[in-house]
Amino acid sequence: MTQRLGIIGYPIGHSISPIFQQAGLDHLGIDATYEKWEVTPDKVGEFVASLRSPGTLGINITVPHKRAVIPFLDEVDEWATTAGAVNTIVNRDGRLTGHNTDGPGFLRALLVETGYSPEGTRALILGAGGAARGILLALVRGGVESLVIANRTLERAQTLAQLAQDNGVAAEAISLSQDDALTQAAANADLIVNCTTMGMSHGPDEHGSPLSAAQIPATAIVNDVVYNPMQTPLLREAATAGATGLGGLHMLVYQGVLSFQMWTGQDAPVAVMLEAATKEMASRGT
Ligand SMILES: NC(=O)c1ccc[n+]([C@@H]2O[C@H](COP(=O)([O-])OP(=O)(O)OC[C@H]3O[C@@H](n4cnc5c(N)ncnc54)[C@H](OP(=O)(O)O)[C@@H]3O)[C@@H](O)[C@H]2O)c1
Repeated sequence: MTQRLGIIGYPIGHSISPIFQQAGLDHLGIDATYEKWEVTPDKVGEFVASLRSPGTLGINITVPHKRAVIPFLDEVDEWATTAGAVNTIVNRDGRLTGHNTDGPGFLRALLVETGYSPEGTRALILGAGGAARGILLALVRGGVESLVIANRTLERAQTLAQLAQDNGVAAEAISLSQDDALTQAAANADLIVNCTTMGMSHGPDEHGSPLSAAQIPATAIVNDVVYNPMQTPLLREAATAGATGLGGLHMLVYQGVLSFQMWTGQDAPVAVMLEAATKEMASRGT
């Protein structure tokens, strides 16, 4: 029987997960299809209940349902519980478990692509939304030494700084508009991660970069989690500064790789999946 996999969100049209997940399944000869389903917020419970059927391996969840699915699951693992968000559901004999591979996928992408590991490093997180929260937890668990969180809305940065402090990591919150503090934080950072929507196609500031080349040290690793476009304004500034840059497509694919392994029990063909994702983005003109 062909097994069922997929992703839910609202809207979902933009998702490229079906492209690279299907490429991985086909490469390994796994008899499964990965679809995308647009599920309105009022239908989330009903949809999750349908996943208990024997033909379903599991699903990914994207915005805005990552929190909403939680009450409908039998178990949520510790990472997803702390993150307050589930991006992967696994169905085992009608029992549904919730997981979150966003943070681990972010760390895996950085390690494989740049050799970066958080232990004893200083990081600057730009933004304080859902992506920033998952990434902060990943950095804290990875042993980061200190964090600065810079956000347009200072209060949201303060909430995340408190979360880091509660987990024993020195953390400071600043406003994105505090130029001197931002410049200083960037100068001290081993890792700079953009988790704002600045630079995102069709976003509120699609040509904007949160930092200029002059603010980026050549020794830093700059990870923009924005993946559309693949080459963001921040990554261009990082290249001008001589820093190492990594785009968000890697995090996207690696979180999917970790989900793939949970559903199938097999090692995902990472190179095949990355190539499929990159080709798809290129074909969309990004
Ligand atoms: N690569 C991946 O796998 C991956 C995974 C998740 C997300 N992402 C990307 O990460 C980005 C953030 O996603 P999210 O889910 O965290 O979104 P979110 O929860 O809505 O957070 C948006 C963040 O962007 C900031 N922001 C919005 N407009 C801004 C502007 N004009 N100037 C400066 N800051 C602005 C917000 O600041 P305020 O708090 O002041 O509103 C907030 O910090 C998106 O581009 C998303 O596609 C990528």
